[in-house]
Amino acid sequence: MSTRSLVQGQRIIVIGGGSGIGLAAARRAAELGAEVTIAGRSAERLEQAAESLKGIVRKAVLDLRSEDDVRTFFAEAGEFDHLVITAGEMKHGLGKVAEIETSNAREQFESRFWGPYLAVRYGAALIREGGSITLTTGFFGDKAVPGAAVPSAVHGALENLGRVLAVELAPVRVNVVSPGYTDTPMHDWMSKEQKQAWFEQTAPTLPVRSIASADDIAGAVLFLMENANTTGITLTVDGGARLV
Ligand SMILES: NC(=O)c1ccc[n+]([C@@H]2O[C@H](COP(=O)([O-])OP(=O)(O)OC[C@H]3O[C@@H](n4cnc5c(N)ncnc54)[C@H](OP(=O)(O)O)[C@@H]3O)[C@@H](O)[C@H]2O)c1
Repeated sequence: MSTRSLVQGQRIIVIGGGSGIGLAAARRAAELGAEVTIAGRSAERLEQAAESLKGIVRKAVLDLRSEDDVRTFFAEAGEFDHLVITAGEMKHGLGKVAEIETSNAREQFESRFWGPYLAVRYGAALIREGGSITLTTGFFGDKAVPGAAVPSAVHGALENLGRVLAVELAPVRVNVVSPGYTDTPMHDWMSKEQKQAWFEQTAPTLPVRSIASADDIAGAVLFLMENANTTGITLTVDGGARLV
């Protein structure tokens, strides 16, 4: 039986691949012999990320919130096999509805819903037979946490979008990965000590008693890319965070 990876030699675009879960997914794919393109807003971040990856790695500076950026990127991208979108930030995204600035709530939808929407809008037609799209949400989509209504709504919208796209874009497969607490640069707005203390406080409350690494979630992303019979699902990798 062959142990050749299904992504070997395939072209994979990871928007959000400059750090965290996206970078970990790009690393796994590159190690399996894929040609990877990582995209994000910061050229410097992409440069550093690319240096840490093996094999054929391309970089693309783009802001997923900009329709022009997304259109231009895909107009030049050529055909590819898998699109992974992990881009997003939580900055100012939390707060009770009566308290959060409306502009901050709208911004969450701009980057985390409309961004992936635009990527699919312009990128899907370039995906080769057997290819896939993986979107990213989070466990707030499954749990009623006061102060997290906006991300919860974003996740619900994106997960429903993914289900419909799985039919609309078939045979391209479309799935969603939903992480829980994961140790990535997303939390770097806290000091190192604050982040460590928060993780130490949070981990024991979770059924798995640990915070995920970016690579834990990347494993799920690779599964969604490689499994030819999986489409229209949300794969939750949250250490049980939605249950407690
Ligand atoms: N980490 C967690 O605990 C956690 C939990 C639940 C869900 N998630 C979700 O998982 C996804 C990945 O997050 P992560 O933890 O890997 O965070 P991360 O390390 O901050 O990665 C997010 C990446 O997205 C890029 N990005 C942000 N806004 C962008 C935009 N408008 N256009 C293009 N690129 C953009 C960032 O690079 P630039 O700033 O250079 O653009 C960054 O490289 C996010 O959607 C997040 O909401 C994370």
